Amino acid sequence: MRRPIPFRTPFLVALLATLALACAAAEGDGGGDDGHSAGLEPTSPEQGYVGPEAVVPPSGSVTGAAAPVRAEDFERVEDPRLAAVLRAGPRIYSGAVPVGPEAFQALAELGVTTVVCVDGARPDVDAAAAVGLRYFHVPIGYDGVDEGARAAIVRILEETEGPIFFHCHHGHHRGPAAAAVALRALGADADTARAFLVAAGTSPDYPGLWRDVASFTPPSPGEVAAVRLSAVAEVEDFAAGMAQLDRIWDGVRILADAGWTTPLDHPDLDPDHQPVLVRQALEACAEATPERWSSEEEFRRQMRRAVERAFALESAAAAGDAAGADAAFRALKRTCMSCHDTYRDGEDLP
Ligand code: HEC
Repeated sequence: MRRPIPFRTPFLVALLATLALACAAAEGDGGGDDGHSAGLEPTSPEQGYVGPEAVVPPSGSVTGAAAPVRAEDFERVEDPRLAAVLRAGPRIYSGAVPVGPEAFQALAELGVTTVVCVDGARPDVDAAAAVGLRYFHVPIGYDGVDEGARAAIVRILEETEGPIFFHCHHGHHRGPAAAAVALRALGADADTARAFLVAAGTSPDYPGLWRDVASFTPPSPGEVAAVRLSAVAEVEDFAAGMAQLDRIWDGVRILADAGWTTPLDHPDLDPDHQPVLVRQALEACAEATPERWSSEEEFRRQMRRAVERAFALESAAAAGDAAGADAAFRALKRTCMSCHDTYRDGEDLP
């Protein structure tokens, strides 16, 4: 059963995109990635789908005869079971992580056949499989869509038919960047792909994402053939821990908005407990810090500060001190951002 898309706002999205194009920000080029793992390790059968043994040799072209997508074709898809969904033509969607069976059902009703997770969290392969969707996991950093990930995206376009849903956590930055790379691979020009990022609300604070969408050139057939796709990629414990922390942090943000009381629509959120989970997740990340950062005094200092601030949040919330909790929450958020600015989000472009 295919439900019609409930509500579409193509004109608004196209208008936004056009406006933003008119005041396009500076565009950079080149600049390597930092070696962030594209996570294209082979996966074991119990991890879900593994590329078929006898894959049709990549053709080197996925554009086919279809006309490239234009910004006028972008559509917002409003469905209460999904968040931040943006569609670009017949094959490409981006959005937030689908949560629970209803969300995957909603994707299936849109006609989506393939789901691609580009963040560090473990994809819910079982929920996808239950409604017949294939999952691929291609983790990318906030600092760009590296070569391995670009080749993987092209390979997925070649190996699948039908619409593909690219998602990160909230569907604003990395998911749209991967979708925009797919659009380029399907023949869209740089302006159209950039307009897609604008329409998705991708932040200019991640210049590497914009750069790699703008400077896209098709990977060679050899690069595409060498890709090993997997449904659950290997992700370093640190990045996986950060992805986990971010999900806990969502709950803290809701509590902050609710004045550090359990909101009616989130009976699961306990102001005494959620900050404890944040602190524990930060400690787990600190523990799992890879050598390239743990050897840096500044990194260790920022991590210690984050843990201290999480402790402060924990005690203020437990004491029912809403003002203190607010202050500690904001201070901790600044530490997240400041560490990311230095160690995660890549160089500012000249
Ligand atoms: C001391 C440094 C530091 C602090 C503090 C920090 N992070 Fe991170 N975080 C990083 C680094 C470095 C990465 C990139 C890891 C990688 O890609 O290998 C990262 C990655 C992430 C990611 C992306 C994970 C993924 O899916 O790939 C999220 C989300 C995140 N952090 C959320 C948070 C939140 C929320 C906080 C604060 C509550 C926080 N971080 C505090 C350093 C930090």
